[in-house]
Amino acid sequence: MDYAKNILETIGNTPLVKLNKLTEELPCLVLAKYETFNPGNSVKDRMALKMIEDAEADGRLKPGGTIIEGTSGNTGMGLALAAIVKGYKCIFVISDKQSKEKMDILRAVGAEVVVCPTDVAPDDPRSYYSVSKRLSQETPNSWYVNQYDNPSNAKAHYESTGPEIWKQTDGKVTHFVVGVGTGGTISGVGKYLKEQNPEVKVWGIDTYGSVFKKYHETGIFDENEIYPYVTEGIGEDILPENVDFSIIDGFTKVTDKDAAVYTQLLAKEEGMFLGNSAGAAIKGLLQLKDHFTKDDVVVVLFHDHGSRYVGKMFNNDWMKKMGYID
Ligand SMILES: Cc1ncc(COP(=O)(O)O)c(C=O)c1O
Repeated sequence: MDYAKNILETIGNTPLVKLNKLTEELPCLVLAKYETFNPGNSVKDRMALKMIEDAEADGRLKPGGTIIEGTSGNTGMGLALAAIVKGYKCIFVISDKQSKEKMDILRAVGAEVVVCPTDVAPDDPRSYYSVSKRLSQETPNSWYVNQYDNPSNAKAHYESTGPEIWKQTDGKVTHFVVGVGTGGTISGVGKYLKEQNPEVKVWGIDTYGSVFKKYHETGIFDENEIYPYVTEGIGEDILPENVDFSIIDGFTKVTDKDAAVYTQLLAKEEGMFLGNSAGAAIKGLLQLKDHFTKDDVVVVLFHDHGSRYVGKMFNNDWMKKMGYID
């Protein structure tokens, strides 16, 4: 018999799928690393499990403990699945701009969800960074995950996602394009791919309202770059330790409108029902078209599933209200 001993054993080994219609104007092969095949429907299952296993190994997480994290949803889902299998409790702190579906999904897998305002500075006591830290100090036998600065995040992608892409492309990958939030995915995959072939180019997708692109280009953390935006999952108003700027060749920024419109197009043109950061990633990849030539093999990673966005990017009333479609 061929079966997994529990749901966690099904994490990883996701397919690589060719894009066809949306990439028609490009000269190269474009392949999507399709992470919704993970049991929590996102790439974050990989790093969630790795962060828990590493914390168990060095005693930061103890039997019966409570896992506390500020999460926009996907990391929470991965942590919650692992917590169920391994017997931990979860408290997740989430900002109020995140979709209601994401909050409901986290509650469905047994987590307590605390909602905080989005439009406050990271050091404000109401921010979701501050609230998660405070809860971890107040809750006995708890462990604060901190996916932004936890090195196990990028390590998970260095150990699994990167090697899978290398193997699936038979070492022919020339470019890796991916949205950047905590930086774990781009830094772990990028490091692995560049170690195999230093010629591989690594591009990050950023949003307007985030600090990454300007910081990468100038070394300046410019607070004027920071303002509220709609795109979910990518861009930051902080510099997470998991973003290794030295392995990133460049960033391109995608507007909220384009990210939303391309999220719909992926579903309609490719049959790929994916989250908002996938729309941003494919639009960003198209913006980079002058960087690609005929023999290139470009891999773009799609983080999460469309079901979490049915109230927003897949709701035409919402799209109209936002001015994204007529
Ligand atoms: C939907 C989505 N896209 C992209 C990202 C960014 O990935 P990373 O944090 O590895 O940079 C995240 C992270 O939370 C996410 O949830």
